[in-house]
Amino acid sequence: MKIAVVGATGLVGTKMVELLAERDFPVTEFIPVASERSAGKIIHFRGREYKVVTPAEALLMKPHIALFSAGAGISGEWAPKFAEAGCRVVDNSSRWRMEPGIKLIVPEVNGNTLTESDMIIANPNCSTIQMVVALNLLHSRYKLKRIVVSTYQSVTGSGIKGITQLNRERAAAQQTKTSGNTTPSDTQNLSAYPYQIDMNLIPQIDTFLDNGYTKEEMKMVNETKKILGDDSIAVSATTVRVPVTGGHSESVNAEFEATFELEDIIKTLKETPGVILCDPESDLPYPMPLFAHNRDEVFVGRVRRDLSCQNAVNMWIVADNLRKGAATNAVQIAQLFI
Ligand SMILES: NC(=O)c1ccc[n+]([C@@H]2O[C@H](COP(=O)([O-])OP(=O)(O)OC[C@H]3O[C@@H](n4cnc5c(N)ncnc54)[C@H](OP(=O)(O)O)[C@@H]3O)[C@@H](O)[C@H]2O)c1
Repeated sequence: MKIAVVGATGLVGTKMVELLAERDFPVTEFIPVASERSAGKIIHFRGREYKVVTPAEALLMKPHIALFSAGAGISGEWAPKFAEAGCRVVDNSSRWRMEPGIKLIVPEVNGNTLTESDMIIANPNCSTIQMVVALNLLHSRYKLKRIVVSTYQSVTGSGIKGITQLNRERAAAQQTKTSGNTTPSDTQNLSAYPYQIDMNLIPQIDTFLDNGYTKEEMKMVNETKKILGDDSIAVSATTVRVPVTGGHSESVNAEFEATFELEDIIKTLKETPGVILCDPESDLPYPMPLFAHNRDEVFVGRVRRDLSCQNAVNMWIVADNLRKGAATNAVQIAQLFI
């Protein structure tokens, strides 16, 4: 099978390449793709060297499956061309997610809806993926009525420029400490965010919309309904960038139609595919990004009844946004086709 990874030099693309090797994907020809800037660069896959090509060159090589992770513009332009040429596209960008007729897939939740005729398949937003993996089985047992979520999202969610900004700011702070110079950090270092991210939190992910929410917040609202196939679920989201690299964390308040016993919620979470429920008595009493880093599972903890609202529960959900929030989910979708 010929597999192309479009965006192979990026943060998500690099994880995709690692996962294809880890999961022993039946690759007979590997095609790493990036922009003109990276054409000719070498990418290692299963001990061999491959030259990066442009999307146009990759299309001529007629891949069977292409994992896209190069931004919405590239997906908008190239995914239909690859699909028309008979290549199945799993797209990580936001370009096709809400498009009618395009499926938005989290394999543990709605992977069973995929059919042979689906040529472009959308991978949801990272924050949405980890939330729906955790809530899916609870929804089928108790029916979700409303979700209130606040996120604490890693800088890796902004790609290479997010990590670069954080690292530059940390290096500058270290230099200031050593030299005793107290000049505020150089604003030229701001490549991903409008403000310093080190020692800070930024309550803005993506751009603001007319309704006062950010695009990232509205992605969580709309994508949750589409994946769970239920427009009646009310979702309220606040998304925040934090100076963390290991993964995204979420405080989630979920209200259900049905009454429940807390022990049954805990039992359901233990039975939920893709979820690891942290045991308060164990070495990892609650999920944290440092421990979710490089893992494919969604970690859930701090599960407790909401004392202010009947039929509601609070929980803390953590996952590696580059793995389950992006690359792992995309590779799982490709595996479903195989
Ligand atoms: N980071 C996450 O947690 C996350 C989660 C879910 C979804 N996503 C989505 O995944 C996509 C990539 O994110 P990322 O974090 O990996 O970003 P990134 O680290 O900035 O990587 C971007 C990739 O896109 C490639 N690219 C840029 N312009 C291109 C062009 N004209 N033609 C072909 N390739 C081009 C880059 O190649 P060059 O090296 O040549 O520039 C690079 O490989 C975005 O759509 C993002 O929204 C990210």
